[in-house]
Amino acid sequence: MTINTLITGADRGMGYELALELGLKGQSIYVGSRNLARGQAAVARLEAAGVQAQAVQLDVTDHESIAAAKTSIPNLDILINNAGIAVDHETKPSELSLDAIRQDFNVNYFGLIDVTQVFLPLLKAAPAGRILNISSAVGSLTLASDASTSIHKLQASGYQASKSAVNMFTVKLAAELEGTPVTVNAVNPGWVDTSFGGGGGNRTVQVGVARTVELATSDALTDSGTFSDIDGIVPW
Ligand SMILES: NC(=O)c1ccc[n+]([C@@H]2O[C@H](COP(=O)([O-])OP(=O)(O)OC[C@H]3O[C@@H](n4cnc5c(N)ncnc54)[C@H](OP(=O)(O)O)[C@@H]3O)[C@@H](O)[C@H]2O)c1
Repeated sequence: MTINTLITGADRGMGYELALELGLKGQSIYVGSRNLARGQAAVARLEAAGVQAQAVQLDVTDHESIAAAKTSIPNLDILINNAGIAVDHETKPSELSLDAIRQDFNVNYFGLIDVTQVFLPLLKAAPAGRILNISSAVGSLTLASDASTSIHKLQASGYQASKSAVNMFTVKLAAELEGTPVTVNAVNPGWVDTSFGGGGGNRTVQVGVARTVELATSDALTDSGTFSDIDGIVPW
């Protein structure tokens, strides 16, 4: 049976790498991209690599775009909420503009919830639906309040809060879906070398997606409501 997987923000960065790796493992990939031409270009590269993929226009901040995307996806087993932005790097919390915080939340939190709610009926109809929310350790309140960590010093509190909020949504939706076959988990990729946030990450995209690939391909996933990375559980 083919596993159908939708990845938001899959035209580049970790979303593209997830499409490639999961596609090479036999999953049929819906490449969500807010710019259809970029999504189609990604699909051409994926198909050349032997992956079964289809481009889907999907701007996570636009409800009509999400609803339209659903009409071209009849079955869905895995939703990977990967699309994300960070517009408030290197800004003190005391000086952070509300507009910057809203931009981060519109994509990373409200967009993620809208996409999840629209596709949840398809995931519930699947034999074992999985929702994987790409979060970040910088959203961990435990790590951010620990003065010995680099996250304590990081100044991106709008972005960080949006990922803390994603973690809360993960926990609450997992609790709501307890007793159903649908699992909901958050993943920390680590600091990954994409163009995200100005670039410069110390992990390759392959390492960055490794935990998500594991969760998307493991047999009979029972974990739900967790936050993890390649090293194990990440503190909330
Ligand atoms: N890189 C890191 O170090 C790091 C660390 C922790 C967590 N993360 C998280 O990992 C995820 C992927 O990051 P990345 O490093 O791969 O970033 P990236 O290379 O900048 O890619 C981000 C993707 O999100 C898409 N996107 C942005 N706004 C969107 C919208 N409104 N609707 C749909 N798609 C949208 C982008 O599309 P366009 O091509 O149209 O711009 C792009 O495909 C994000 O959630 C990020 O927060 C990254």
